[in-house]
Amino acid sequence: MQVAMLSEGADLAGFRRATRRLVAAGVPPERIVWEIGEATSLFGAGADPSDGPPLQLPRAVGELIPMVVPHSDPERYALLYTLIWRATQGERALLDVASDPLVHRLHLMRKAIGRDLHKMHAFLRFRRVEAGPPERFAAWFEPEHHILEAAAPFFVERFRSFAWTILTPEGSVHWDTDTLRFGPPGRREDVPDGDGFEAGWRDYYESTFNPARLNLDAMRAEMPKKYWRNMPETAAIPRLVRDAAMRTSQMIERGPQMPVKRDPVKAVAAMSDQNPTSLDELNAIIQRSEPLVPGATQAVLGEGPIGAPIAFVGEQPGDQEDLQGRPFVGPAGQLFSRAMEQAGLTRGDVYVTNAVKHFKFTLRGKRRIHEKPTAGEVSHYRWWLDRELEFVQPKIVVALGATAVLALAGKAVPITRNRGPFEFGGKPFQGFITVHPSYLLRLPDEEAKAMAYEGFVDDLRRIGDLAA
Ligand code: URA
Repeated sequence: MQVAMLSEGADLAGFRRATRRLVAAGVPPERIVWEIGEATSLFGAGADPSDGPPLQLPRAVGELIPMVVPHSDPERYALLYTLIWRATQGERALLDVASDPLVHRLHLMRKAIGRDLHKMHAFLRFRRVEAGPPERFAAWFEPEHHILEAAAPFFVERFRSFAWTILTPEGSVHWDTDTLRFGPPGRREDVPDGDGFEAGWRDYYESTFNPARLNLDAMRAEMPKKYWRNMPETAAIPRLVRDAAMRTSQMIERGPQMPVKRDPVKAVAAMSDQNPTSLDELNAIIQRSEPLVPGATQAVLGEGPIGAPIAFVGEQPGDQEDLQGRPFVGPAGQLFSRAMEQAGLTRGDVYVTNAVKHFKFTLRGKRRIHEKPTAGEVSHYRWWLDRELEFVQPKIVVALGATAVLALAGKAVPITRNRGPFEFGGKPFQGFITVHPSYLLRLPDEEAKAMAYEGFVDDLRRIGDLAA
């Protein structure tokens, strides 16, 4: 019998080392005891911590390993090793066999990790613990699996300019605006119960709550009750539920409030005398301009360094982008940043912008529902986009979805058939077409979502290679 000793939690590095050594020594799964934490077995003390030569694993297997290692099931390492062993013994397409019990179980484990990460990203609430400067925030969260390390990059991306700490029963993570440190477990009592932000969270939640769409079962499924006690806004739920029927009838009586539109042709004509000589000047013009469809809080400008090798063009800012004044910071933007990171691209090194610079929406109660820009609106903003890309001078420009393709190519081009490198026509850069990240969010089926996400990450890797 061989013993592999791994640390508590998600010991990916330890698992990789042990696996390389054991596969190289030809040790089959049934001859391995996986010990976690203290060496408790008869054999534990003799465990070999050495490494082995790198393994040539099918890509899907390599990608699945870090997604399952954080699972709390003590059998996770044995199951993953069996998968790796079988893949190295000739079953290279094993992960495609969905009916194989091992594959099925590993997929369920991966899904459970995905759900736990989503819950942590969505339901963790920071409280202010130091007024600063610098201001410091802390949060308490109890994940079901060992996901603290996997979850941390999301919070860095989202709350980069704050100092914060996340405490869990298993470990903690600290961000000081430029370094991330992992530390020992914390206690719930170490995080204050309330602060000045509570009211802000409650107001935000109330403003996004649509009484006409109240569905208690869906609400409980999406936001399980066990997370409620750490979430200030949940205090408002009983009242919102009670008042829902009354607010819905008021909404019906009031009727829809449609924004008034401007004429895109006239708006384009009005631009003809603009002659910006730098990106700053262009941005100042964009910022001063009225949205074609009134309602947006502000113009959302492109973001990233001049001379960035890659420029990504999205459709138009969403609700969060409109409020924060930055592109791709809402749910689609967070998924986009995660995919970029997975593909080895650094968001700060690329240029990110939109075909249309103002958020367009329809009102549903108090909620602002994104509305696709018309071809006329896209052509209105196209002049600005062309100037913007001339100033940035990227090597590759990536159209994220159909609206960006329309803006760059000047005509509608089917995405699926033209996905990949694409010539936009008369442009001083290489073009590339891929899907919009919000398309991935909209897919109803988790399996399809995961596959589409992998395809998107593959495109981003390819874009990185082309730009290198
Ligand atoms: N979708 C976009 O196309 N752009 C953003 O900035 C956000 C969402």
